[in-house]
Amino acid sequence: MGVSAFLMRVASLIAVAQGVQLDTTFVMSQTTVGLSAAGKAACLRGKIKVNASATNTKLLVKSPVGQPDLTQTTVDMATVGIDYAAMVNGGPSQVSGTYQLYVELCVPADPVAALKVQTLQFLNHGGTLDHTYWDFAPGYSYVDAAAAAGYATFNYDRLGYGLSDHPDPNQVVQAALQREIAHQIIQVLRKATIGGIGIKNVVGVGHSAGSALTLAIVGKYPADFDALIFTGISTSIEGVARAQISFNLIPAALDPSGRFAGLDKGYLTQGAVPQDFQFPFYRYPDFDPTIFKKQFDTRQTTVLGELLTFNSVIAPQPTYTGPVDVVLGQQDYIFCQANCSYPTDQAQTFVNALFPASKSKGTFLQPKSGHLIAQHYNANAGFSHSLQFLKSNSL
Ligand SMILES: *[C@@H]1O[C@H](CO)[C@@H](O)[C@H](O)[C@H]1NC(C)=O
Ligand SMILES: *[C@@H]1O[C@H](CO)[C@@H](O)[C@H](O)[C@H]1NC(C)=O
Repeated sequence: MGVSAFLMRVASLIAVAQGVQLDTTFVMSQTTVGLSAAGKAACLRGKIKVNASATNTKLLVKSPVGQPDLTQTTVDMATVGIDYAAMVNGGPSQVSGTYQLYVELCVPADPVAALKVQTLQFLNHGGTLDHTYWDFAPGYSYVDAAAAAGYATFNYDRLGYGLSDHPDPNQVVQAALQREIAHQIIQVLRKATIGGIGIKNVVGVGHSAGSALTLAIVGKYPADFDALIFTGISTSIEGVARAQISFNLIPAALDPSGRFAGLDKGYLTQGAVPQDFQFPFYRYPDFDPTIFKKQFDTRQTTVLGELLTFNSVIAPQPTYTGPVDVVLGQQDYIFCQANCSYPTDQAQTFVNALFPASKSKGTFLQPKSGHLIAQHYNANAGFSHSLQFLKSNSL
């Protein structure tokens, strides 16, 4: 591309991204404009401040002092005969604050397609990951796939992740507060315009812990989403405790990379050996080793505050009638013990058990894929399935 063609491209990209208007509730700061991994989307990136309050749980836990007490906590969480989450539940606790979050709003880079957007997808990443899960590399980007299919996406780092604020990991970064923050953002996104034209639909899209949060949002605010896409989650939890052990959690601040130096030791991450990441997340040999290494090297944190409180905010949604899609990696260890067809299709089991009244149910077991379906060779099979599901429901 010549210099003038490049400058024209940049100018049109900025015009597309700047055509996105949010109402004045959130003022985006540190704003930049850029492309998604394969350039299919123009993205406005920056930080917003959200005021939120929630009834969290007073957790009777402290951040670990070092590795030995954290390792014992992982044993306690996997001990038979006790319900650790119930044991450390100290009752309700009110929290509130103003939190700064990293966000990305992406629209089709093709200006004609950008003006036709009707549906925005609200993306929510999983634990020990961040917003990069959804736009990881060319060929491994749901943001690209969605933009190419005519959708806008909103992608962010949840509180306590990546470039967002990192408050108290035990008492503040919990599911109930994450739900209130997300709800506030969705209210603003519902009023967003692109080139003067309003968004008509918002679809909730989650992966793993982000799917649990999406389910929590629907439970309290069913009108937030016109349709739902759950990935990396099931009702089969037998593998979760074992996977949690395989994480070999360490206080992130002690990670030899130094990337998390200074963080409260309640921020945890996988151990610094690649197999701690491979066992729960990847299925060999169905991934590109360079993708694996990039993700391992950029892995993020998780906190007990979230892990121990999701259960208290998720439940079946027998009155939700909107379209619901479920996508699992066929060999997901965490939610299927490496066989999502056992004893029957776990995607179907999930959607039937949690959304019996949904007027349109979709399911897909993505072949040759572990938990991180967006980072296996077959990523685009899952992306295409979900986007096709939305189209078939006129979204
Ligand atoms: C959030 O709270 C702060 C401090 O209480 C206040 O100054 C600000 O206007 C609030 N922002 C919004 C968007 O409500
Ligand atoms: C997964 O489980 C199903 C149902 O029991 C079984 O038929 C199938 O052979 C299993 N697949 C693998 C790869 O083990």
